[in-house]
Amino acid sequence: MRVIIKDDKQQVAEWAAQYVAYKINHFRPSPKRPFVLGLPTGSTPLGMYAELIKLNKAGKISFENVVTFNMDEYIGLEPSHPQSYHYFMFENFFNHIDIQHKNIHILDGMTKDFAKECRSYELAIKEAGGVHLFIGGVGEDGHIAFNEPFSSLCSRTRVKTLTESTIKANSRFFDGDLSKVPTMALTVGVATITEAEEVMILATGANKAQALKHGIEGGVSHVWTISALQCHPHGIIVCDKPATGALQEATVNYFLDVERNNF
Ligand code: GLP
Repeated sequence: MRVIIKDDKQQVAEWAAQYVAYKINHFRPSPKRPFVLGLPTGSTPLGMYAELIKLNKAGKISFENVVTFNMDEYIGLEPSHPQSYHYFMFENFFNHIDIQHKNIHILDGMTKDFAKECRSYELAIKEAGGVHLFIGGVGEDGHIAFNEPFSSLCSRTRVKTLTESTIKANSRFFDGDLSKVPTMALTVGVATITEAEEVMILATGANKAQALKHGIEGGVSHVWTISALQCHPHGIIVCDKPATGALQEATVNYFLDVERNNF
């Protein structure tokens, strides 16, 4: 696994956006051969989205032949709800870039048939040829997408019950009111993510320090689902210094050393 350590969250945003632009441009996507991108929500990727919008407006990257699959969606929130992940994605990214709406995929949290929705999502990813680059954030308890602790590392898209810790952490988007936070979500599985050709997880802030410690230095375990990245041939964690706060000094020095000349 690669661990890219940057000074602050702005540098993380810039590095991640440049990397996405590089991957898409290098791939030279076409209508018949689109680039398939997995996308997250949350506060962490906001800076990356802002940078990607800038690159798109500057003509340095186009999303015209990019197909996207979002990681997750709350159950019970209309797409027009300001805290739904549908709303988040259009507000913070899709409305500002040249992506074609038919290429956007987000799980439908209002569906009456969850099993069918999840099956169709997995099928759509397969039909698109698989994800080239899956980008994610990480929860304080190490969850990726909504794969809460003890999610199977072989899991696929399905319904998940959110833990108290996640509901508490996400209540900041719901006026701090825990009762307004949905308790369930649809989410891609750990295996759906790790099946991508490449996985890039962004982590900023000291509150992610334990997740990184367990994900990087701990063993592979369903307790911290981010640790599944250790089994991926092309896993990258892009983080700021505060997020490395619980890592051993030698670990930090190792990654700073080996990545010093890399993109
Ligand atoms: C939610 C999302 C995750 C995200 C996590 C962290 O639980 N389902 O995909 O990684 O929040 O969010 P933040 O980046 O706001 O800390």
